[in-house]
Amino acid sequence: MESALTITNLTKRYDTGTEALKGVSLTVPAGELFALLGPNGAGKTTIISIVTGLVTKSGGSASIFGFDIDAEPERARALIGLCGQEVNFDPFEKPLDILVNQAGYYGIPRSVAIPRAQRLLKDLGLDDKSGQIGFRLSGGMKRRLMIARALIHEPKFLILDEPTAGVDVELRRSMWDYLQGLTKEGVTILLTTHYLEEAEQLAKHVAIINKGEIVANGTMEEILALHDPSLSTGTSGYSGGKLEEVFVQLTKD
Ligand SMILES: Nc1ncnc2c1ncn2[C@@H]1O[C@H](COP(=O)(O)OP(=O)(O)O)[C@@H](O)[C@H]1O
Ligand SMILES: [Mg+2]
Repeated sequence: MESALTITNLTKRYDTGTEALKGVSLTVPAGELFALLGPNGAGKTTIISIVTGLVTKSGGSASIFGFDIDAEPERARALIGLCGQEVNFDPFEKPLDILVNQAGYYGIPRSVAIPRAQRLLKDLGLDDKSGQIGFRLSGGMKRRLMIARALIHEPKFLILDEPTAGVDVELRRSMWDYLQGLTKEGVTILLTTHYLEEAEQLAKHVAIINKGEIVANGTMEEILALHDPSLSTGTSGYSGGKLEEVFVQLTKD
């Protein structure tokens, strides 16, 4: 099995003294959608920030398709497209320009970038917005623009940090279809989400992190098999919400 991401014993202690990661090991198999779940503050964004070179780790190692992030950071990073948790594009720039400028960071000429950006905006339902300035976009449109930007250099590995936060149900479903289409084209996806139904629908493998430690890691079937009906609260937010109950059982104090 080829791995898109391998993390070994990753630790992170922020300057504030917070131990965000206490020795995390994970493997994301190539070619599938992997869900990283955990409550707020569990360490999900910290993992993603280390892997993408935005935050320095305290210990451990990580590699992207075999390229160690310390030994070969440029090669590792070139394979990743990141859609971060916070909306972070310039609100006074037009979507088409945002994508074409991003392509420039990867050395992609405008003649290649413009048609590619137009196609991505069309695929994500933003083609009529390509000339608008970003701050007029709705929350869901901003998220889709972030996804389009993450894909402009055709990365093999797409990392999405809560991409559907604040996105309405209908649009969320169309984003799921789009992401599933990407995995069919061979793109590996690592997704964090608060919507456990989303993970249950999309992911083949799941890891649950709590307070900087992995508390479950396996195929969706394996994780769902951890479900203990005797602890069932019956308060699940959707029908058949076994994953939600497993999650609650594993992440309560
Ligand atoms: N830049 C930072 N400085 C100090 N502490 C941080 C920083 N970023 C995150 N943390 C802390 O690290 C822990 C993990 O945060 P984070 O990785 O953002 O979790 P998640 O994405 O799972 O919500 C939390 O306790 C958070 O407050
Ligand atoms: Mg986060």
